[in-house]
Amino acid sequence: MAEFQPRFLSDYQSPAFTIKKVDLTFDLYDNDTLVTAIMQVSRIDKSSKQLRLDGEHLTLVSVAIDGQLLAADQYQLDDSSLTLSIEQDDFTLEIETKIDPENNTALEGLYKSGGAFCTQCEAEGFRRITYFLDRPDVLAEYTTTVIADENVYPYLLANGNKIAESSVENGRHSVTWHDPFPKPSYLFALVAGDFDLLSDTYKTASGRQVALEIFVDKGNIEKAHHAMASLKKSMAWDEQTYNLEYDLDIYMIVAVDFFNMGAMENKGLNVFNSKFVLADNATATDTDFFNVEAVIAHEYFHNWTGNRVTCRDWFQLSLKEGLTVFRDQSFSADMHSKAVCRIQNVRLLRRMQFPEDASPMAHPIRPEKVVEMNNFYTMTVYEKGAEVIRMLHRIVGDDGFKKGMALYFERHDGHAVTCDDFVDAMADASQVDLSQFKVWYEQAGTPTVKVEKQFDQAKNELTLHVSQHHPDLPVNKTTKDLLIPIAIELITQAGSQSHLLTLSQAQQTFTFKHLENEPVVALFTDFSAPVKVEFEQTDQALNTIITDAKDEFSRWDACQSLFMREIFALINAPSKAVSATLLATVSSILNSEGDNALKAEMLTLPSFDEIAELCDSVEPQAICRAVETLKQTIAGELASEFKQVFTSNQQTTYSKDAKSIANRALKNVCLNYMARSEQYASMVSKQYYEADNMTDGIAAFSTAVIANLPDLSAISEHFANKWKDTTLVMDKWYSVMAQQQQDTFTKLQALLDSESFTLHNPNRARSLIGAFAMNNPQHFHCESGQGYRFLADRVIELNAINPQVAARLITPLIQFGRFDQATQQKMKREISRIASIDKLARDLKEKVSAALS
Ligand code: PHE
Ligand code: ZN
Repeated sequence: MAEFQPRFLSDYQSPAFTIKKVDLTFDLYDNDTLVTAIMQVSRIDKSSKQLRLDGEHLTLVSVAIDGQLLAADQYQLDDSSLTLSIEQDDFTLEIETKIDPENNTALEGLYKSGGAFCTQCEAEGFRRITYFLDRPDVLAEYTTTVIADENVYPYLLANGNKIAESSVENGRHSVTWHDPFPKPSYLFALVAGDFDLLSDTYKTASGRQVALEIFVDKGNIEKAHHAMASLKKSMAWDEQTYNLEYDLDIYMIVAVDFFNMGAMENKGLNVFNSKFVLADNATATDTDFFNVEAVIAHEYFHNWTGNRVTCRDWFQLSLKEGLTVFRDQSFSADMHSKAVCRIQNVRLLRRMQFPEDASPMAHPIRPEKVVEMNNFYTMTVYEKGAEVIRMLHRIVGDDGFKKGMALYFERHDGHAVTCDDFVDAMADASQVDLSQFKVWYEQAGTPTVKVEKQFDQAKNELTLHVSQHHPDLPVNKTTKDLLIPIAIELITQAGSQSHLLTLSQAQQTFTFKHLENEPVVALFTDFSAPVKVEFEQTDQALNTIITDAKDEFSRWDACQSLFMREIFALINAPSKAVSATLLATVSSILNSEGDNALKAEMLTLPSFDEIAELCDSVEPQAICRAVETLKQTIAGELASEFKQVFTSNQQTTYSKDAKSIANRALKNVCLNYMARSEQYASMVSKQYYEADNMTDGIAAFSTAVIANLPDLSAISEHFANKWKDTTLVMDKWYSVMAQQQQDTFTKLQALLDSESFTLHNPNRARSLIGAFAMNNPQHFHCESGQGYRFLADRVIELNAINPQVAARLITPLIQFGRFDQATQQKMKREISRIASIDKLARDLKEKVSAALS
């Protein structure tokens, strides 16, 4: 079937026709919305006679060319397209379609979220609204009229500036918007509903006034202030950092409860998952506040990197996403602790992207073959894509990068371009040859860099023998050597020196002279490249890095290496004693001076997925047991020290300054260890009941779940009862409950059956099912295979409701490569069961086929 045919980057052809202007009218009704599209179409390729428009899940009402209605035999219609024979070079095409927003459970195109209408068009959702050239290299100027009942939908919004409004018959009203910036269809948006509105203004660097409006569900306005403050900070940052100003007179954000992803950068009218807008002290954690700010920034930054300069085709997605993630990460690092931000980026990359890059769905940051585009909004395109931009930044330097950005906009503003265009602008602006660097865009898999060191006492010379290795993945036809920036620090008694090495060949040697004594070497400081490293380090060297390195990321990373080393030792010899030097290291970190946020990161053990990622043919339960032993031992041996640090970081009044956030983070890491020692476990419920903020409350609640404390059921009931009417907080409740350790599957079933559970809301589905599969490895990977079956059953149910969400949730099931054969077989059996169901959606089909091939 055509629907399952892959598309290839190498088949790209520029469009034969284009649409310069489009006038849309939406007559909104729940089940029967009439969409009228009047398009100014031009032929580009003079030899092309057939105009093929994309369209799915549409009911065609009429088609007219230059005012002439077409009869049914004058066009061809199928499930995914409308094809017309065209004589004219320039003409007006008018198409009427009917759609059913209320029954749109896939949440792509026009749908209803709660009581409001909203749209989601990226990547290929516009074709569910009308027949169109639904591809990012067709840029049109949009005028949009929205008509709906005035009482139920007082706010009618679309992209651009409002140009007209009026009342029409039957208590309905009509509002018209015009967006002067030509844009691809994926950036189209419409919202109709009744909201509370938070308004503000921003004066741009050049003195223009911009109206800022955030629309939230009634009663939630107090929870929108943090988002508004974040928006203003983002606008100022982009002016200061890149000289980029906002370009329309109004910037609107609408928060909705039903949303497949995080948020969407539609021109002038962002639609957000309410999770990334709403936040107040009672309901949001420190992490939530951080994430709201980061996502607001991300979407705002897209206005230049994504909207003003967009992608030529969807294979180029990382052009806008990798770059915009890099920009939002830089922004967050400027607003908060640089080191802690960097550590969190790297943790995410290792936990989620490295496994993806070794999985059956591994792909380069610029994929070459796609069946369902929704499957490529991935950790690889986003997070590894951002690492690739960060390497570019390191290679050309901050000034070079800024010049490169300026040249990129000078050349490509208003156009749809490729990743090569971006790298070329960087290369030309700094006069650096980046041809080898482009291999990062075409090659999948996490490289390994191996390093051996030699120190010549007589000559006082250090030599590093460095080599690069690439995994053998079916997606890579060949493998090429990459250009890898290796930042290092050499630590001697005399102090430390930093260097930037560039590895371009398979093997290279680097020499450092005039060293007084043998240095300790910290490699990939600040995580200068997204690679795995093999380098023999003594415990003593790692401890020197922990205490003496200037680079805080390396200090954390050395600590993780020590933990990792111990965990592997415990996997191989489960009854061995935990190393006394490790315990001493943990104790000294705990008692050291310095930033508490960094300490909290250093004291957190690597996650299941980070460990599995470094394994080969391991039994998942062996990882869980090793981690538990280590945690238990650290907790037991250092119980009173944890208690002491916990107590000294208690706060009497709640505040959100950096220091208080850091103290909370450290205190809650301590609490987690304390839960495992009998004499202090009662501190958990004490903290839960006394907490005056969500960070402390949820930390105690989740600690009670993970440590399976006796007070757990009282706490969980109390929490559910207190927050039963607050959707976003109840999502947290489901995520925490998904980590149950005892009678897990009975409890999961009860959660599925609970009144407020629904698979139709993606946040809710993810909060229970995603949290179980990703954060409860003991039970997801239980030996009976019941965890895999539980996930597969939900994926099958979601296939019929929301394939995009189903395909996301299946991820942990297809990442089986690191496990032993018996485990792999159990996982594959469930994948086969999914593969065999009727009406399997394209999204899932692509993934299960890759996993079973
Ligand atoms: N473009 C959005 C972002 O990263 C993500 C998104 C993709 C949202 C597809 C919805 C659908 O900012
Ligand atoms: Zn984005």
